[in-house]
Amino acid sequence: MTTAHTPATRTGPAGAAAGAGGATVWLTGLPSAGKSTLARALARRLHVTGRRVEVLDGDEIRGLLCAGLGFGRADRHTNVQRIGFVAELLARNGVTALVPVIAPYAESRDAVRERHEANGTPYVEVHVATPVEVCSVRDVKGLYARQAAGELTGLTGVDDPYEVPGTPELRIRTQGRTVADTAAELHTFLTERGLA
Ligand SMILES: Nc1ncnc2c1ncn2[C@@H]1O[C@H](COP(=O)(O)OP(=O)(O)O)[C@@H](O)[C@H]1O
Ligand SMILES: [Mg+2]
Repeated sequence: MTTAHTPATRTGPAGAAAGAGGATVWLTGLPSAGKSTLARALARRLHVTGRRVEVLDGDEIRGLLCAGLGFGRADRHTNVQRIGFVAELLARNGVTALVPVIAPYAESRDAVRERHEANGTPYVEVHVATPVEVCSVRDVKGLYARQAAGELTGLTGVDDPYEVPGTPELRIRTQGRTVADTAAELHTFLTERGLA
């Protein structure tokens, strides 16, 4: 029964095929935590080793794949499911799909994980664990300032929920570290698991 959802093209169980195959690496965390920066740095590192990599960045994808979705709980869930669907398709076909998307709700993240598990596709949840105090100083897109000025509401981690991952595969610190150092840690983690 466990192989019922395995695609015909798969060459073996996920564990055995993992070294040669793809994976989804989901980077979850607060706005300005460093998800996009880390994904791009990791993508560059993986490219030079010859891996096929795609970055599914939440900000870029919202205009197309997730056009029309808002920032309420239901739409945020739908956003994550659609991106998770595409990531799994890519990963199943040998691509390393890097997904820097906030994904604030554990239920949404778990549904994506279950979709991967049902297909035998490797899935790695990385919590980019930058505290809100640091994120709000970085404030790359000015969202924290706008929220503080009353110009927007529903900012994840401030006046909208962020459910901290309980058992991510990796929890990564970024404050006080260089991007290169953080990306190297993640790259090493994936390599040790046969995913890079
Ligand atoms: N170790 C680190 N890893 C990732 N980003 C870092 C790190 N240290 C500082 N930063 C900075 O934090 C900011 C994170 O922005 P961004 O990647 O757009 O966040 P997010 O995609 O999570 O909203 C960037 O300006 C980046 O240079
Ligand atoms: Mg980003």
